[in-house]
Amino acid sequence: MNKLRVYNSKKNAVDNRLFGSFLEHMGRAIYGGIYEPTHPTADENGFRQDVLELVKELNVSIVRYPGGNFLSGYDWKDGIGEHRPKRLDLAWRTVETNEFGLDEFMKWAKKAEVEAMLAVNMGTGTPKDAAEMIEYTNFPKGTEWSDERRKNGHEEPYGVNVWCVGNEMDGPWQVGQLSADDYGKKSRETAKMMKLVSNKAQVVVAGSSSSDMDTFPMWDRTVLEHTYEYTDYLSMHRYFENLGDDFNFLTSFVNMNEFIQKIKATADYVKAVKRSDKTMYMSFDEWNVWYLKKVELKDWEIAPPILEDRYSLLDALVFGGMTITLLKNSDRVKVACLAQLVNVIGPIFTEKGGAAIRQTIFYPFKDFSNYGRGSILNSYQEGDKFRSVHGEGFKVESVAVLNESETEITVFALNVNMENSEVLNLEFDYEVEVIEHKILDGDDLNAINTFENPDAVKPRLADKVDNPKAIVLPKCSHNVIRYRIIGG
Ligand code: AHR
Repeated sequence: MNKLRVYNSKKNAVDNRLFGSFLEHMGRAIYGGIYEPTHPTADENGFRQDVLELVKELNVSIVRYPGGNFLSGYDWKDGIGEHRPKRLDLAWRTVETNEFGLDEFMKWAKKAEVEAMLAVNMGTGTPKDAAEMIEYTNFPKGTEWSDERRKNGHEEPYGVNVWCVGNEMDGPWQVGQLSADDYGKKSRETAKMMKLVSNKAQVVVAGSSSSDMDTFPMWDRTVLEHTYEYTDYLSMHRYFENLGDDFNFLTSFVNMNEFIQKIKATADYVKAVKRSDKTMYMSFDEWNVWYLKKVELKDWEIAPPILEDRYSLLDALVFGGMTITLLKNSDRVKVACLAQLVNVIGPIFTEKGGAAIRQTIFYPFKDFSNYGRGSILNSYQEGDKFRSVHGEGFKVESVAVLNESETEITVFALNVNMENSEVLNLEFDYEVEVIEHKILDGDDLNAINTFENPDAVKPRLADKVDNPKAIVLPKCSHNVIRYRIIGG
């Protein structure tokens, strides 16, 4: 029997920045994704309105920019003002035109109604470059870089608060890879300088680029030992792909959860060593399904189609499990960015000069972002368990969220039983009635959305809910059950 006992007590508030995403200068994410001046829906800035509408539908809260691996060879000064040099992007072996840069991104973020999360280069970049970038972005006026911003037509400072100091600096693929000690020292001095320029800046320091790295978690420990006082968040990245066994893939959330527990333990160890009373939070600023093993790069083209994964129903179910894990860990994971947003491993997929469609993963993200806000309710879960390559878990993985106005409870539930439906028995301290039960499932786990059939995979509403306290979850399904609190 699967049971979720939901108490009338809050575990933690969910930070709205949990519903973030990521735009990197790579492939067709920027050029041909959010920005396509010749597209019929382009506005006066060249921003595709159809894409903007879909970003709003996703209710994205914060967007990380400009990378990613691209960041580590990027000079932010190439993307401002009149002179926009074409440069080689060594990370993705493409040519970057720099037509789009910091000011364009800030304008787009405003239109998309998202907060900006910027990143400074720790590969080829220096602490001085980073301090100058934050001066350009946040300093009011009267200095070289703040006046340069004003000269470029942006009188008011942007007031960007969340800053990533480098990206995946432990990776051998990273331009300017550093050892944990070298990165720790460099990022500490960079964060210190950035906070001196802009005292509201919150700094994200780069953690291990995956739990699969041989250097995990020593990297994280060493970096935090160097930076603890100057850092607000430790970044985490994790992608999953189907390596041939659907069930192992479906249960990837167990692995993601393990990763978070290990990172928390590592951060708390450093807190103890430092006799600190500050708790380190996490920024899970890259997460998704990504078919990394299939990546093929084309040499030195401008915005070629790369990492354009077309997501299946099964991918969307795995993704749904990851959203439940993020919610369950939202006491420590305060920021999270779905990597990425458009075309490059994105929930939105576009055609040059043509349509923009919702990939399968669009739907679980939209529900997560619309109904995951508020507070996690304390709950007790029990039921049958499974074992997969990732370890043990409940056949029905679930979490309950109280909305911000405290009038609704949403239960997110993934049934990993691939053969049979499961019943989720719910007990509430509240009196509730069901608003709706949305189900993402289907006969063909490989089905994808295409330009010809853009609605092949999307959630359906359960015909009727016979018993609001015993919800039938079809085999292999992601479920969103919304309850109204009576008298709430
Ligand atoms: O999101 C694609 C890439 O994945 C990013 O550039 C990098 O940070 C990670 O390895």
